[in-house]
Amino acid sequence: MTLFALSLCGVSAALSFGRSSVRMASGDLNAAQRAFEAKSGGRVFETLVEYPCVFKIKVIGRDDPSFVDDVVSYIGRVTDTAPANISFSTAASRQGTFVSVSVEAPVANANELYECYSVLRNDPRVKVAL
Ligand SMILES: *[C@@H]1O[C@H](CO)[C@@H](O)[C@H](O)[C@H]1NC(C)=O
Repeated sequence: MTLFALSLCGVSAALSFGRSSVRMASGDLNAAQRAFEAKSGGRVFETLVEYPCVFKIKVIGRDDPSFVDDVVSYIGRVTDTAPANISFSTAASRQGTFVSVSVEAPVANANELYECYSVLRNDPRVKVAL
């Protein structure tokens, strides 16, 4: 089964923000890419991520009985992976109205990654997908 052979997007990258250059450890890479993407408005996932890889997506949304399962199924559908084989963890907000879901999306290419975010952001319960 290839899933376990996938890299965890463990490339390190040097990103340039204006005049400063920041070198990131692999654990910070997702955050770095998101920041870079936001600043550049570009499709940075195409150039900075090696595929296939497991990309950790953090989703915060309104908690209801099906929200977590729905998030995992969205990722399963986009990545053509059985939901049972997608790792995720959850944390409820203190008030219990929101839940944060960290999903490990086994993406084959940049399009799948963009599609994951697009599908998630189309769900009205989703407040943030990072
Ligand atoms: C999940 O992965 C395992 C091991 O790689 C595989 O044997 C199994 O068929 C998969 N489960 C589903 C529901 O596809």
